[in-house]
Amino acid sequence: MKKLAIIGLGFIGQTVIDAINSQKIGYQIQAIYDIDEKAIEKVQTRLKNVRVMRNLSDFYDCDVVIECAVQSVVEKIFDKVLENNIYFIPMSIGAFVTNESLYLKYQNLNAEKKKFILLPSGAIGGFDSISAIALEGLNTVVLETRKPYHVFEKNAYVLKNNIHLNENKETIIFEGNAKEAAKQFPRSINVAARLSLATLGREETRVRILSDPTIKQNIHRILIESKVGSYEFVFKNKPSPTNPKTSWLAALSLISFLRKIQD
Ligand SMILES: NC(=O)c1ccc[n+]([C@@H]2O[C@H](COP(=O)([O-])OP(=O)(O)OC[C@H]3O[C@@H](n4cnc5c(N)ncnc54)[C@H](O)[C@@H]3O)[C@@H](O)[C@H]2O)c1
Repeated sequence: MKKLAIIGLGFIGQTVIDAINSQKIGYQIQAIYDIDEKAIEKVQTRLKNVRVMRNLSDFYDCDVVIECAVQSVVEKIFDKVLENNIYFIPMSIGAFVTNESLYLKYQNLNAEKKKFILLPSGAIGGFDSISAIALEGLNTVVLETRKPYHVFEKNAYVLKNNIHLNENKETIIFEGNAKEAAKQFPRSINVAARLSLATLGREETRVRILSDPTIKQNIHRILIESKVGSYEFVFKNKPSPTNPKTSWLAALSLISFLRKIQD
């Protein structure tokens, strides 16, 4: 059975622990880490013999490291996991687009090392078809993210650019590439990052962000034009029960991914 290290014991980390405890997936939880002592104690009451890591790189005896904390953790442990040939599943994928040095390191990894970095689909999906379409080349890839009107009311980008939010109909908040979107909207970047890494990269993948007063949940639409056809994938995600900023699907994508690689 593979041994897991889980860094970040919030919604996604807890969902992984629940899935292991209820035997939906078969892993041994070897080591855990969080900056919040209470989060660690909560896990320790359920898993008596789990090792608490002394620092972020204390995963020497694990086969797989899952990061479900914050983007800065991805950069801090990236070299160490690769040096040790440990499988690494980062959930804060936005780090690969926003952090210049990490972006370059990831782009320049050879195939042998890259196979240790495993990227779950997160809050979107369709990557099996997208990689098939990409075999004949992708002409355009657009991510259109719609969020409820109230999400943008105090948004820094909206205020700085004097964008007038229409209370009755949709308003385009941002149009640009994935790199610029990551800079301006750090909280919504994981989806754009995941899509851009799988398709045209952070400069060529387009992102459109809209405020939509008619919706209550986030909607991601992926639009692809290619030689083999035109495609539209739509994801209407519900927020997770404990962290309204995280789509429930993101945690489930990690569980289903862990199931695929468990043997
Ligand atoms: N790939 C995707 O599509 C996708 C979707 C949703 C969320 N995410 C990302 O996954 C991550 C986790 O999401 P979540 O909903 O579980 O968040 P959460 O806020 O519920 O939990 C995060 C946990 O990480 C801990 N933490 C914060 N900083 C830390 C640090 N420096 N070192 C160790 N632990 C630290 C917090 O104390 C908390 O317990 C976030 O970065 C989020 O943006 C990715």
